[in-house]
Amino acid sequence: MRIVVLTGAGISAESGLRTFRAEDGLWEDHRVEDVATPEAFSRDPVLVHRFYNARRAAVADAQPNAAHHALADLARKHDLTLVTQNVDDLHERGGSPYVIHMHGEVKRALCASCGHRWPSPLVMDVTTPCPACANLTARPDIVWFGEMPYHMDEISEELERADLFAAIGTSGNVYPAAGFVQLARQFRAHCVELNLDRSSVSRNFHEHLTGPATQIVPEWVARLD
Ligand code: APR
Repeated sequence: MRIVVLTGAGISAESGLRTFRAEDGLWEDHRVEDVATPEAFSRDPVLVHRFYNARRAAVADAQPNAAHHALADLARKHDLTLVTQNVDDLHERGGSPYVIHMHGEVKRALCASCGHRWPSPLVMDVTTPCPACANLTARPDIVWFGEMPYHMDEISEELERADLFAAIGTSGNVYPAAGFVQLARQFRAHCVELNLDRSSVSRNFHEHLTGPATQIVPEWVARLD
């Protein structure tokens, strides 16, 4: 069975990483316009580096949870394409062999001058040189609002051939990820949403499993055997 799974911040919430749109979410004490757009970075790179240095430190302190491990088990039994909106590396540390990071990775750096990518230092700032061109134009390798998500061709191809599509821990507020269910459904996949609550796109799913990811994801994976 061909499965595509899309994950969002909710799958890492029980690992202690903040989500974006909850009451204590990241967007409650940072404006997207100040820390997550190319304009923000050119206007105040010090603030943007500080925001991502804090998130990188939080990721370094976090551990994968039972939901991450369950998806690694799933990859051992089925043809699984795991797409994540998350920029943490908990899927990889939880054992998933192949993860598509459509919004980039907080542990990777990108040179805004030459496009070189490399493993980010724990603390990056405006004095971090690019190892390839030596310019002081290093930025987090994160897809900011207004930028094109990564790997969209591969993701669309997998959605078109999926038998089963699952969205886990995502509020369905940000496109193109929020539109993946419509594409999967158009190509006859069974669509299931696993979430603590309803999302903005719940109506597009055939099935809903409600609860914390560490509980409902392992149960869902076990039933797929
Ligand atoms: N178990 C399952 N789901 C959970 C849990 C949990 N323990 N905790 C929270 N959730 C759900 C919430 O109900 C919500 O639907 O996770 C979702 C988190 O939503 P958001 O904070 O909006 O995060 P996400 O959907 O990943 O945001 C998408 O928006 O800000 C951009 O680039 C950022 O990748 C991010 C994108």
